[in-house]
Amino acid sequence: MKSILTTGSNGLLGQKITEKVLAEGRVKLIATSKGVNRYPVKAGYEYAEMDILNPEQVRQVIEKYKPDAIIHTAAMTNVDTCEANKELCHQLNVDAVKTLLSICEEKNIQLVHLSTDFVFDGANGPYKEEDAVCPVSYYGESKVLSEDLLKQSKVHWAIIRTILVYGISSDMSRSNIVLWAKGALEKASPINVVNDQWRMPTLAEDLAEACILAVEQRAQGIYHISGKDYMSIADLVRKVADYWSLDQSFLHEISSASLNQTAKRPIRTGFILDKAIKDLGYNPHSFEEGLAILKGQM
Ligand SMILES: NC(=O)c1ccc[n+]([C@@H]2O[C@H](COP(=O)([O-])OP(=O)(O)OC[C@H]3O[C@@H](n4cnc5c(N)ncnc54)[C@H](OP(=O)(O)O)[C@@H]3O)[C@@H](O)[C@H]2O)c1
Repeated sequence: MKSILTTGSNGLLGQKITEKVLAEGRVKLIATSKGVNRYPVKAGYEYAEMDILNPEQVRQVIEKYKPDAIIHTAAMTNVDTCEANKELCHQLNVDAVKTLLSICEEKNIQLVHLSTDFVFDGANGPYKEEDAVCPVSYYGESKVLSEDLLKQSKVHWAIIRTILVYGISSDMSRSNIVLWAKGALEKASPINVVNDQWRMPTLAEDLAEACILAVEQRAQGIYHISGKDYMSIADLVRKVADYWSLDQSFLHEISSASLNQTAKRPIRTGFILDKAIKDLGYNPHSFEEGLAILKGQM
């Protein structure tokens, strides 16, 4: 059985990988994150504290556990924070990948790296893996730089790009669009939602499955992983409201320009999933099925 080490195991994807490994036992797991373990179940896998900005600690932990593969989920993931703090974003999203690559190369460890639809400018979505990247934000730029590092390395690498991940986990450090919209509409708080950005939202469980498939199959190359339904952000929020029978009169559709966010967002992303479906056996849920899974976990 292969052993995998996850970085950022306290995050949404990190926790879903732990949950899947504990439920299915297909791989051995060493979960690592900054600080204490926030996943509620502590048995059935190893946990080690590992700050990806601390190269010595990263080396010590990897040398101790000698994993077959690393799934690198840790990152600065808030797009506006990345724009406002480019230096720290570069350290987390680019320099930390350099550290991991040098150790993976030395020890012949597969690196599965998480990237984003924000590597594209959003002019021509949905995108194939080989389409030209052209980020419109520093977050997207930092992920392009990290992808380039993998492509130039001698490591056995896979890049998994994903889109607008939703799900629920323990003690989350940040929310996601589905939980945010549901929470606000339940409290009858007015929300502004953009109607001129299109995405393919991804159930966190589907993304975790794709990451494990990439390790099991020792995948190499870029894979586009998202849900299969394409919608505007406003339609997404309406589907959430419909699913939980919430009053939509508090939902106000606006344009991206009027939102005035720090970082620019691509207009129309979305992925063509054929490669992941054919090569990895990836089989995503529909958005409605994803909401039903989430409801069962609340
Ligand atoms: N979520 C999305 O919509 C989305 C879309 C496209 C791509 N992605 C990519 O997918 C990956 C996983 O995303 P996610 O949704 O699971 O993100 P997340 O919930 O924000 O998790 C990221 C985790 O990284 C941890 N982290 C931050 N700095 C660290 C450090 N110095 N050392 C170790 N861990 C550190 C965070 O710890 P704390 O919890 O303690 O802050 C957090 O738990 C990321 O690479 C992201 O860029 C996500």
